[in-house]
Amino acid sequence: MGPPEHRFDPHDLASQAAPRYANGTAHLPRLYTELADWWPLLSAPADYAEEADLYRRAILATARSRPRTLLELGSGGGNNAVHLKAHLDLTLVDLAPGMVRVSRAVNPECTHHVGDMRTVRLGRRFDAVFIHDAIMYMTSEVDLRAALATASAHARPGGVVLVAPDHLRETFRSRVKQGGHDGAGRGLRYQEWSWDPDPDDTVVRTVFAYILRETGRAPRVLEDVHAMGIFPRALWLQALADVGIEARALPFEHSEVDPESCEFFVGVRRDPAASE
Ligand SMILES: C[S@@+](CC[C@H](N)C(=O)[O-])C[C@H]1O[C@@H](n2cnc3c(N)ncnc32)[C@H](O)[C@@H]1O
Repeated sequence: MGPPEHRFDPHDLASQAAPRYANGTAHLPRLYTELADWWPLLSAPADYAEEADLYRRAILATARSRPRTLLELGSGGGNNAVHLKAHLDLTLVDLAPGMVRVSRAVNPECTHHVGDMRTVRLGRRFDAVFIHDAIMYMTSEVDLRAALATASAHARPGGVVLVAPDHLRETFRSRVKQGGHDGAGRGLRYQEWSWDPDPDDTVVRTVFAYILRETGRAPRVLEDVHAMGIFPRALWLQALADVGIEARALPFEHSEVDPESCEFFVGVRRDPAASE
């Protein structure tokens, strides 16, 4: 039997914090706004070592020359950056100022910017551009294409672009996950549950329940609803090609993940000046 019938309106974001940033309107989950400083207890940098290494090797295998600079769009708390910065000179962009603060604290040697991956233009190009799970917050094809255009605009001709969504239309499965960590004087545990309310649109829902404990305070239980994009593989590849990135889909080979369940895209930014 499937999950119980729910009553979420995919367009009702009322239960989420909806801050307005100078560079555009963003409906960000409370995890990245009022709870940003709890992020390292939900998702610790150590949990990203194997994954970051997979992406680094895919970038190296795709690059025509050894990449030295990398831009990450939607870099969050900088958990991938913690592992990548030993190998690359990193510039990190995220929409949520609180998440940029968290990343700055663990990655002070990296350059940080607050910016929207759909619109930001830094005025320079990089040997590689990386978008990890933050791409999931592109919930329409228009937003997805805008974010990929930003990636392309920041990759030098011949540079590598790697985009790693949590799921494609073909690989999405409703799932439940739990975790959390303890820190100094406080701890967080969470459960998340994802499902697709309407298979005919481009949005899936992940509902989080967080339990927050702090010394000297009563425990708190908070909920958070994340709207995430879902697109078929062919659309991903076409959208990448349309912004000048000849990409392929690779399996996400990770010791804790079924290799059939996840894919990521890696490709090279075409040189517009080169003859076809
Ligand atoms: C799951 S977190 C990323 C964690 C990251 N992979 C890491 O290594 O720590 C998702 C991030 O996407 C960011 N985000 C969502 N929409 C965005 C947008 N339009 N532009 C830039 N960042 C965005 C959120 O602020 C959040 O920090």
